[in-house]
Amino acid sequence: MKEKKLMIPGPIQPDTKVLQAIGSPVRAHYGKEWTEYYNETLDYLKKVFITKGDVHIIVGSGSSAIDACLGSAFGTGDKVVIPINGFFGERLKAISESYGIEVLPVISPYGEEIQIEEIKKVLKSQSDIKGIAVVHLETSTTIVNPIEKLGQLAREENLTFFVDAVSSLGGLNFRMDDWGIDLCATASQKCLGSPPGLAPVAISEFGWESIEKNKHSKHGWYLNLRTWKQYAEDWADWHPFPITMATNNVTALHTSLEDLLEEGIENRLSRYRNLALRLRRGLRKIGMPPLTPDEIMAPVLTAAYGPGGIPTSEIVDFLGEKHGIKIAGGLGKLKNKVFRIGHMSPSVSEDDIDEVLYALDDFNKSLSGR
Ligand SMILES: Cc1ncc(COP(=O)(O)O)c(C=O)c1O
Repeated sequence: MKEKKLMIPGPIQPDTKVLQAIGSPVRAHYGKEWTEYYNETLDYLKKVFITKGDVHIIVGSGSSAIDACLGSAFGTGDKVVIPINGFFGERLKAISESYGIEVLPVISPYGEEIQIEEIKKVLKSQSDIKGIAVVHLETSTTIVNPIEKLGQLAREENLTFFVDAVSSLGGLNFRMDDWGIDLCATASQKCLGSPPGLAPVAISEFGWESIEKNKHSKHGWYLNLRTWKQYAEDWADWHPFPITMATNNVTALHTSLEDLLEEGIENRLSRYRNLALRLRRGLRKIGMPPLTPDEIMAPVLTAAYGPGGIPTSEIVDFLGEKHGIKIAGGLGKLKNKVFRIGHMSPSVSEDDIDEVLYALDDFNKSLSGR
């Protein structure tokens, strides 16, 4: 396989230091020293979630964390409102339905913002709704959903609030406790700057109460958050998780989180915003306008239209084959309508942005010979 410069919306290309960490000798996943190191990783994550709640690291992809949160907090027949404006909103619905949860979808077209007023109408129309579940950064369309406003609604209605922050945590403004989030799922391979393999979850006190109240407490074992809590308590001093922890992945995550906290979350976010604006200016100059206006841009991910309605898979292929740069196509209903450039790696620089723009412009030039 030829190596390509990764500019997709995850996985990202981690820093060399992080890659060295994952390549370090395998350690035992238990004992005092390991437990201290693991707990320090949890503390770093708490600083990024900005929470005083509990954090666990599930070994799996982001979907395993989502599955664990939804399946632990809600039971068969529970009503959960899910605003859907893209592929990953639909995925939340599919995961919920696999647990028999009754989803009340509030659907907006792909690429558009979710309808808060519609959500309020649904909340008013029924009395026994248990929760709201939503994607923060809808990776398929680059739309950033209004978590703070939804959290406020959830608090007013005493609902359990779940957020899929798989593609946002570490790259977008995020405040778990201040925004009233009860359960949050993320993944190591995007803005957290590590390789794939780990799925951190964060749970508030109210989140745990919802889990305790869920009548369907026997929703599996591995992805049941009760299991993770039980081992974190019972085996706290030597093995605070129920399984063989992926120690090398944790070592990589520890390293990438340390870098993030050293740079400062605010500094990192502002660096990403500047890169996004540079990319957007360049895209407009070469006639490939971004899908969303700058005012609502995702700082770590940009979708843009191709020139003259050309299927965007051609652009993706051209960049991969001629320039060795891997970008992504549109997903779901935006397939072949837009292409997406991920710039959610801490190692992405202005030069990387300029290189993608140069390659896109080269695609434009290749069209004149057709
Ligand atoms: C917003 C969002 N949710 C969920 C997922 C699924 O994560 P994973 O592929 O790690 O299971 C993704 C993956 O891209 C995502 O972007």
